[in-house]
Amino acid sequence: MGAMKWLVFLVFLNIYSPAAAQSGIQVSVFSTTSKTVILRWSAYSGAASYKVSAALSSSPNDAIAFVMFGPNTVMGSISSLSQDVAYTFTVEALSANQTVLGSGSTKTSTAPDMMDPIRTVKPKDSRTLMADFNPKTGATSYVIRVENTNGFFREDSVSSSPAEIKYLNPYTEYQLSIMAVNDAGRSQPSSHVAEKTLLPPPQLSTSSPSNDSIIVTWPPVSDAVRYTVFMYKFGSDTQEKYNTTNTTLTVTGLDAGSLYVIKSLAWDPEGREGEESLYVNQTTRPPTPSSVSVSVVRSNSLAGLAVSWELSQDVYGTVDYHVTSDQNKNLKCNSTSSSCTLPPVGCGEVHTVYVTASNEAGPSHPSSPVVFITFPCPPESLTLVESSEGNCTLTWNTVPYADGYEAFVKKGDGSEATCNSTSNNCTYQCQCGYTYLMSVLAYNLAGSSPEGTILNYTTVPCCPESVSVSAVSADTLEITWTASRGAELYQTRAADNSEVVLCNDTAPVCALSDLSCDSSYTVSITPCNEISGCNHACKSHTKDTAPCMPTDLVLDPKNSSVVSVSWKPNNRAANYTVSAESHSEYGKNGGRTCTTSGNSCDITDLPCGSSFEFSVMATGGAGRSLPSFSTFLETDPCCPVNLTVDQVTQAMSNVSWSHAKAAQSFITSLTSLHGHARCHTQDSHCLMGCITCGTNYTVTVETFSITGRATNCTYQGFSSSPCCPSGIKLYMLASNSLRVYWRSTASSRRTTVEMLGTSSNYTCTASPGENSCNVENIQCGDVYWLVVAPLTAEGSKIPFCPYRLYSVTCLGSNIGTVIYRGKRSVD
Ligand SMILES: *[C@@H]1O[C@H](CO)[C@@H](O)[C@H](O)[C@H]1NC(C)=O
Ligand SMILES: *[C@@H]1O[C@H](CO)[C@@H](O)[C@H](O)[C@H]1NC(C)=O
Ligand SMILES: *[C@@H]1O[C@H](CO)[C@@H](O)[C@H](O)[C@H]1NC(C)=O
Ligand SMILES: *[C@@H]1O[C@H](CO)[C@@H](O)[C@H](O)[C@H]1NC(C)=O
Ligand SMILES: *[C@@H]1O[C@H](CO)[C@@H](O)[C@H](O)[C@H]1NC(C)=O
Ligand SMILES: *[C@@H]1O[C@H](CO)[C@@H](O)[C@H](O)[C@H]1NC(C)=O
Ligand SMILES: *[C@@H]1O[C@H](CO)[C@@H](O)[C@H](O)[C@H]1NC(C)=O
Ligand SMILES: *[C@@H]1O[C@H](CO)[C@@H](O)[C@H](O)[C@H]1NC(C)=O
Ligand SMILES: *[C@@H]1O[C@H](CO)[C@@H](O)[C@H](O)[C@H]1NC(C)=O
Ligand SMILES: *[C@@H]1O[C@H](CO)[C@@H](O)[C@H](O)[C@H]1NC(C)=O
Ligand SMILES: *[C@@H]1O[C@H](CO)[C@@H](O)[C@H](O)[C@H]1NC(C)=O
Ligand SMILES: *[C@@H]1O[C@H](CO)[C@@H](O)[C@H](O)[C@H]1NC(C)=O
Repeated sequence: MGAMKWLVFLVFLNIYSPAAAQSGIQVSVFSTTSKTVILRWSAYSGAASYKVSAALSSSPNDAIAFVMFGPNTVMGSISSLSQDVAYTFTVEALSANQTVLGSGSTKTSTAPDMMDPIRTVKPKDSRTLMADFNPKTGATSYVIRVENTNGFFREDSVSSSPAEIKYLNPYTEYQLSIMAVNDAGRSQPSSHVAEKTLLPPPQLSTSSPSNDSIIVTWPPVSDAVRYTVFMYKFGSDTQEKYNTTNTTLTVTGLDAGSLYVIKSLAWDPEGREGEESLYVNQTTRPPTPSSVSVSVVRSNSLAGLAVSWELSQDVYGTVDYHVTSDQNKNLKCNSTSSSCTLPPVGCGEVHTVYVTASNEAGPSHPSSPVVFITFPCPPESLTLVESSEGNCTLTWNTVPYADGYEAFVKKGDGSEATCNSTSNNCTYQCQCGYTYLMSVLAYNLAGSSPEGTILNYTTVPCCPESVSVSAVSADTLEITWTASRGAELYQTRAADNSEVVLCNDTAPVCALSDLSCDSSYTVSITPCNEISGCNHACKSHTKDTAPCMPTDLVLDPKNSSVVSVSWKPNNRAANYTVSAESHSEYGKNGGRTCTTSGNSCDITDLPCGSSFEFSVMATGGAGRSLPSFSTFLETDPCCPVNLTVDQVTQAMSNVSWSHAKAAQSFITSLTSLHGHARCHTQDSHCLMGCITCGTNYTVTVETFSITGRATNCTYQGFSSSPCCPSGIKLYMLASNSLRVYWRSTASSRRTTVEMLGTSSNYTCTASPGENSCNVENIQCGDVYWLVVAPLTAEGSKIPFCPYRLYSVTCLGSNIGTVIYRGKRSVD
């Protein structure tokens, strides 16, 4: 069928090829064999027949043969030619009367003779046979006809032996015959030789399921009875051969990451090796990465996980490493070197990191997982508690995976401190009145957390120091202190059992007034500021207010110099001092005081004749109260200190007395058994009768003040002087002496006798009970005043006894006479 198509195609070409010459007949060689040439020519109109003649080309005018064709024939063969000779063929169109109407010619040689059969045919591969034949002289080329019983027919033109017959079907038997070709045509085909092509090469598919094995598979090759697979490691010279009837071959025990070069062939039932496949390259999977280590790397504010591993030595080709974390499927990185960095990771994450090596064969087994915990998250919820003086406790929420915490504390004055803890709090020494900025980092082996929130905390203001609480008055406390750090305002508070007094001020001083007396006040100063509030932990100070002022003073005079003073007791405990100040009008006389812890005391020793202002003051530990309101008291007028009674005569006495304070008038009374005398005067003396000599009497003075207060003053009893002796007589004794006699008065006093002369005086004294005494050696011729008077207890002479005048005359040198001349009263 193929041959028919070929012919039809040639006819077609000739019909439509352009005409060679309009004048003649166009002639072409249709085919040539070694003995026959088939020509074609163009129809010539009017031709009644065509004559085709052949002549040797060397003598073209000597036709050696011709053939006639009818008018409707345009193709015809001329036979009985010799092989491989050059001929010139002429076609003439003849008219009915045999006239040549037109002609054309062409040259060609006859084809060679049939050749010897092909010497050998050998399969080269599944689609190619190699034909080896003996060349034929004169042949310019050869045609090998390939055909089989399935209707295959093909002619291949070849130029020499051996020749490859390509494009055949695998494992198919073909009959091959050969024809020699020259310019003119070709010989008859030789007798044929049969040969079968080889089995086709298995179409290998390879893969490496693991790092030490390769699977080779191929589709079954039809008619194959078994297969041989060849494999060698690239770079080595030992090739392994594997026989199998299966279409799958798994080779194990290979080196990881190595290139294996593989080919295979199939065996046909005839025991022939089929065509070898092309070499296929297959790399085993790379070794599992080892020594994987993970650490955190930070760049800018982001953190990544730097994963590194050991590079596999001696591996073929490019190995890509893929790192993944199962925590987050998107967390992966690729590398061809020994490390790569996983993109940003967060705090507090647990990553199980695998590294897989991958080459063109596929990925290796993942490395053994490395569990890596990232740095912890920053602790939150920072709170600060000022737990006790000087201690601040910072607490926070613990975070997972933290090994410890480090708190950074920055104090307002610029100093910084750290404080470490493994739990949720740590305590550091803080000071009042400062602002602290705090942050806490959690850390673990992977590093420390990012900075979390910053706590801005201002400690409470400091407690004031040098606090002084003083009572400026009974109801006012003045409190001063030194300004304390951090305080903007001070709340000062004084509280006792019943009331609270407050004052707010920014100044470090405060006066709390209108306080209750005799109370214990607790004074506290609370420094405050707007941010941190108030420091309620400051020490309070207790201060008692001064005692209350005593009231309801009652004076109860007990006698003229003692006054009992009492008052209402209105203090818890106090010492009371009563003072009695003498009133100035009566001159200074000093004050009197008495002290008691009770509610009354006696003021004693009040002098007479004074005016006193009484007041009570309470004194306690907290000071003294105001003095109570004063009450005035006037004492009784004084008694005259000295009172003298001078007997002026035997029946009249002058009573005088010394000044008596505050006394304005006096009533003086003399009282005896024999009578009573009285005088009322503002003077300090009084002349009183009715008192005779030798009488015992009493003197009393009643003094009166301006306001009528009276004092009875009594004095010791007085005795009036003894009476002057009477019945005085003189007797002359020898030797110029005189004896003086008087009537005995039974006096208990001595009696004196005085004789006072112009030139000399004489005395003698008689003992009590005696009624005479002697005056010796009197000078005569003189006048003498003689007085006989009793002596007072003190020994003085009673002054008011009368003097008697005596003239003493001389008699010779002795006393002549004594003459009484009269008597004279006392002046
Ligand atoms: C033959 O016929 C042709 C035309 O057909 C004519 O021209 C010619 O003269 C004839 N020759 C003879 C000898 O008759
Ligand atoms: C595979 O088969 C061929 C042919 O039978 C034989 O020559 C060869 O030794 C075999 N090889 C192995 C490894 O069996
Ligand atoms: C071919 O190999 C596969 C896998 O090794 C096996 O399952 C199968 O049984 C084998 N077939 C033959 C015919 O040996
Ligand atoms: C197989 O690998 C070798 C070495 O790299 C190379 O030269 C060769 O071309 C490869 N063959 C194929 C079919 O890729
Ligand atoms: C890493 O390699 C894998 C496989 O080649 C690819 O799918 C992936 O996109 C790569 N990842 C990165 C981050 O380059
Ligand atoms: C807390 O304060 C007290 C007294 O101020 C001190 O003794 C103690 O050591 C402090 N504690 C800490 C943890 O600083
Ligand atoms: C806290 O721990 C860090 C790191 O361990 C250390 O550098 C620092 O000195 C410690 N601080 C204190 C106060 O102990
Ligand atoms: C502070 O930490 C200690 C352990 O160090 C713990 O006993 C205590 O309860 C913690 N205090 C607070 C307030 O959480
Ligand atoms: C801390 O708080 C104080 C008072 O509110 C403020 O003046 C100061 O600026 C704050 N400091 C910081 C660092 O936020
Ligand atoms: C003092 O200030 C406090 C708080 O600022 C306030 O509660 C109180 O009423 C004030 N007291 C007086 C007496 O102003
Ligand atoms: C009263 O005075 C006494 C003696 O001086 C003293 O011991 C006592 O403490 C005082 N009492 C008061 C309440 O001051
Ligand atoms: C009272 O008399 C005595 C003795 O005669 C005298 O010393 C004293 O000064 C007199 N006192 C007054 C107040 O006159």
